[in-house]
Amino acid sequence: MSAKIIDGKAVSSRIRSRLKEDVDALRGQGVIPRLAVVLAGGDPASATYVRMKNKACARLGMDSVQVDLPADVGEGELLARLQGLNSDAAVHGILVQLPLPRHIDQLRVLSAIDPSKDVDSFHPSNVGRLLIGDPLFVPCTPLGICVLLRESGIDVEGKDVVIVGRSTIVGRPLMALLMQKKKGYNATVTICHTGTADMASHTRRAEILVVAAGRPMTVTADMVAEGAVVVDVGVNRVDDPASSKGYRLVGDVDFEGVREVASAITPVPGGVGPMTIAMLMNNTIKAAKMACGMTIED
Ligand code: GUN
Repeated sequence: MSAKIIDGKAVSSRIRSRLKEDVDALRGQGVIPRLAVVLAGGDPASATYVRMKNKACARLGMDSVQVDLPADVGEGELLARLQGLNSDAAVHGILVQLPLPRHIDQLRVLSAIDPSKDVDSFHPSNVGRLLIGDPLFVPCTPLGICVLLRESGIDVEGKDVVIVGRSTIVGRPLMALLMQKKKGYNATVTICHTGTADMASHTRRAEILVVAAGRPMTVTADMVAEGAVVVDVGVNRVDDPASSKGYRLVGDVDFEGVREVASAITPVPGGVGPMTIAMLMNNTIKAAKMACGMTIED
């Protein structure tokens, strides 16, 4: 058997068309959704992500402003810039690209973002709201994974979902989202992490396996149940002299091996990545609607 390839590019493109209609309607009322992206330091992967986010805004007719800060920026300066964005009524969404330089306290910075503009949903108040089942925003990658599964006709309700990785960006919020007592969610969730004694014993039980470990070849074919759905969240640069860039992108899953066992699998690139960006646009439009007092339907 060879798995069906879940096409995140195609699904995200459909979603962006719907979002474009929302943006057009807002523009008709004189509101242009605006995202501010803060990038501290020159990490090449982060700079690429930020470029993609700005481009996605432009394609939908949204505004974006980029705040570039040097790698040695002081925490006080960064916090002051966030205060400025918080009090700027023309800015609806604020995102601080992670990782931050090591001398900066990430939690203090994320806590300084106005929760109603926190389109990444990393502010502790928004993290807590998701955990109690009353989310204001849902983090972009977990939301993108749920929407991708739903749009691909894969129901998570009552399923055994195993997540590899307990990061605050993917694993933990995805757990909270999937276990919500709500139609279309209600999954039974297990999280594996670096302290898990026998990871394969868990992953082999998964009907849906989500891998967000940040390491290539974390999951191989022998760790996957026949017919499982596999979602690969990894984005890893590996050296490739044959490529013009000198590297290529691979996920956390042994794609060639696992596609022979799974019933469906997301590719890297072209799987979860485009969904993350579409959900960032979705959250920014939601923030703009909230700012002008419009009711939001989820
Ligand atoms: N770095 C890796 N993923 C993300 C993300 O979703 N948001 C931000 N701000 N930084 C990231």
